[in-house]
Amino acid sequence: MKRKQKLHNLKPIKSKGAIMIAYYDGKFSAKEEIFISPDDRGFLLADGLYEVVRSYNGKLFCMEEHIERLNYGARELRLENTDFSSLGEIARQLLEKNNLQGDATVYLQVTRGVAARKHAFPAAQTPLTVFASASPFDAGKGAAARRDGGTAITLPDQRWARCDMKTIGLTANVLANQEAVERGVKEALFVRDGVILEGTHTNFFGVMDGCLVTAPANNYILGGITRKVTIELARELDIPVKEKPVFVKDIPQLAEAFITGTTTEIMPIISIDNAPVGDGRPGPVTIKLQEAYAKHIA
Ligand code: PDD
Repeated sequence: MKRKQKLHNLKPIKSKGAIMIAYYDGKFSAKEEIFISPDDRGFLLADGLYEVVRSYNGKLFCMEEHIERLNYGARELRLENTDFSSLGEIARQLLEKNNLQGDATVYLQVTRGVAARKHAFPAAQTPLTVFASASPFDAGKGAAARRDGGTAITLPDQRWARCDMKTIGLTANVLANQEAVERGVKEALFVRDGVILEGTHTNFFGVMDGCLVTAPANNYILGGITRKVTIELARELDIPVKEKPVFVKDIPQLAEAFITGTTTEIMPIISIDNAPVGDGRPGPVTIKLQEAYAKHIA
């Protein structure tokens, strides 16, 4: 082992200020008192799903869409007979119990439960592990990049071919995002067969020939909720939208680019792989959509 590691540091991170209340095993309790089994299939096999939901002024944004996506993932993962609609109320209660009336995020995670480690499913009656927590969100942190734009790099997409499920197996995303951090850019964009698919935790849009273009929502991207809202807003604003592949070779033809995500919202991308996008400043279509998004939230 190269690094010195504390092998017995099993306690969850202690919150600096107030004790945070989380939801686990059917009840609410202090997050630092929640212990997840080492036999949990999420821990052993990354056999589970997650969602990150944003709240504004104490109100959850697009909660139903997040539940719908979780239910979709659960069907695809064959987590039988599950309906996660009750997580909406749990998320709401987490905001209340933690006094999060301002900007916050709620994290939801579901795994195939606790069982002796085997690849195949455990017995059908094995209860799923359901965990949810809430944290304050500092919206100010990303404000400068949302105004002035951020930079991106492209990297080969080393993920599997079911990126439409929001699974907790994020190794390729983690490695790519770390590379982005180390290279001082905001996001790494995954490229497969020459196509810019999405970022490590965001969807990607370009503006080309006056048209908004973004990779189609198939198994190679996560169907982002912010992506969906952005497309709807563009249609309302009569901005033509095409869900079609955007190739790396098209980058010089892009007038604008931006990324979207629950915590990122809409962020202009002003350079990709050190080359400016358009004139290297946030463009008018991006700004128009950011304004519409802000209005939509309000
Ligand atoms: N990530 N693509 C990927 C791979 C993502 O992980 C995410 C979200 C998105 C954007 O989806 P949405 O608009 O629904 O947030 C696209 C979350 C925020 C995360 O992992 O933290």
